[in-house]
Amino acid sequence: MLYDKLKNYNRIPFHMPGHKRNIKKLGNKLPYDLDITEVEDFDNLHSPNGIIKEIEDKAKEVYESDNSFILVNGSTVGILAGVLSVVKRGDTVLIARNCHKSVYNAVELAGANAEYIVPEIDEYGIFKAIDTDELNNKLQSVRPKLIVITSPTYEGVKSDIEGICKLAHSYNIPVLLDAAHGAHYVDYAKDADITVMSLHKTMPALTQCALAHVNGSLVSAEEFRIKLSMLETSSPSYLLLCSIEECLNFKLDYWEFINKRDQLVKNCNNLNNLKLLDYDISKLVIFTGYSSINGTELAEKLRADYNIEVEMAAKSYVVLIITPCDNFVNYKKLEKALIEIDGGLTSQPFENDYSFIIPERAVYPYEIDKKAETVLDDSVGKISAEYVWAYPPGIPLIVPGEIISDEFIKTVKDGIKNGVNIQSTYSQLPEKILTSID
Ligand SMILES: Cc1ncc(COP(=O)(O)O)c(C=O)c1O
Repeated sequence: MLYDKLKNYNRIPFHMPGHKRNIKKLGNKLPYDLDITEVEDFDNLHSPNGIIKEIEDKAKEVYESDNSFILVNGSTVGILAGVLSVVKRGDTVLIARNCHKSVYNAVELAGANAEYIVPEIDEYGIFKAIDTDELNNKLQSVRPKLIVITSPTYEGVKSDIEGICKLAHSYNIPVLLDAAHGAHYVDYAKDADITVMSLHKTMPALTQCALAHVNGSLVSAEEFRIKLSMLETSSPSYLLLCSIEECLNFKLDYWEFINKRDQLVKNCNNLNNLKLLDYDISKLVIFTGYSSINGTELAEKLRADYNIEVEMAAKSYVVLIITPCDNFVNYKKLEKALIEIDGGLTSQPFENDYSFIIPERAVYPYEIDKKAETVLDDSVGKISAEYVWAYPPGIPLIVPGEIISDEFIKTVKDGIKNGVNIQSTYSQLPEKILTSID
């Protein structure tokens, strides 16, 4: 195991890392005594044939993939490498509009053109699964080089991956599945040509740990590795590699977790004003729309009064990540907090005013040349030269090249008013937005 190798390494280190594993001088607050670089016997992430290859083989075995790749820069780098390995300048990529911004960045880096499929929004304002029939309709008019979809979503909504891949493959089009939130499903890498998953989100691995799986003959695993090597650090942290190995070997007591989770869900289903939405085993979504509190207020209350921090707060819900690594005592604390908060709320009708209207496209992002700062209120009708998104989940509300509308400005202002963390590429919101000038 890599951990033992790191622990037992005792050569005199005239090599990186510069801390020289000297915990006598540095203290042992951080694991300096495990950190190392690619010295003899420690393999090389970019052309693995030793201990790192063994970890990749383990990932192949666990997820039953043809090829698995270790990622030490999150799902982000897998998405970038995946898109760049398939798509060339001028190609079209069909992406679900609720994809993470790394997908948009990848398409832009490739100099490709994005076309969109937009999942519907459910009664709670949350993106639904991809409609396979709608995808089929779209494929009558657009012939992309690649289809990119997200499943499960940040909230845990899952699409019919098998059906989508079968459909795409009937047109010889490969699918990149962003399963950043799906690493807890061992059968999740079997259908798509490229599947990317963050081990650090729903599995017990250090932040940045992720995997990519490449299957079949529509995409080239070799090309994927080449692109990954261009994008990923040449000095990967062995602590992250070690964490990926530990995670792949970790035996989770799923039964105990499922049991405790079921009890939590059962008790939360009795809330009067807050509503539990149960899309995925790794998440709890608490919907606030029928109550006198909004998502960000609920998050604040949980933090201030109960010391509970949630994963994400949106306008009308919060998302909590739960895993078998939870201390189950905390489920009782969460339950108590929700029951108490719920008791102090009043009910009100929910106005689902959240619709996702794709702003009209004027030019492709790479066609934008000169840019100017524009006061947000004066920007209607101008072309955005930057991305704007709520983080999390990092889904763009506008993409460079799209026309700024009244609705877009309303969405931004409404989000900010409701405490949602709205961000933009040039970080000037809510006062200013970067626009294109010709
Ligand atoms: C749907 C989705 N895809 C990709 C990413 C990027 O993953 P990572 O942070 O592991 O790079 C995220 C991050 O939140 C995400 O939510």
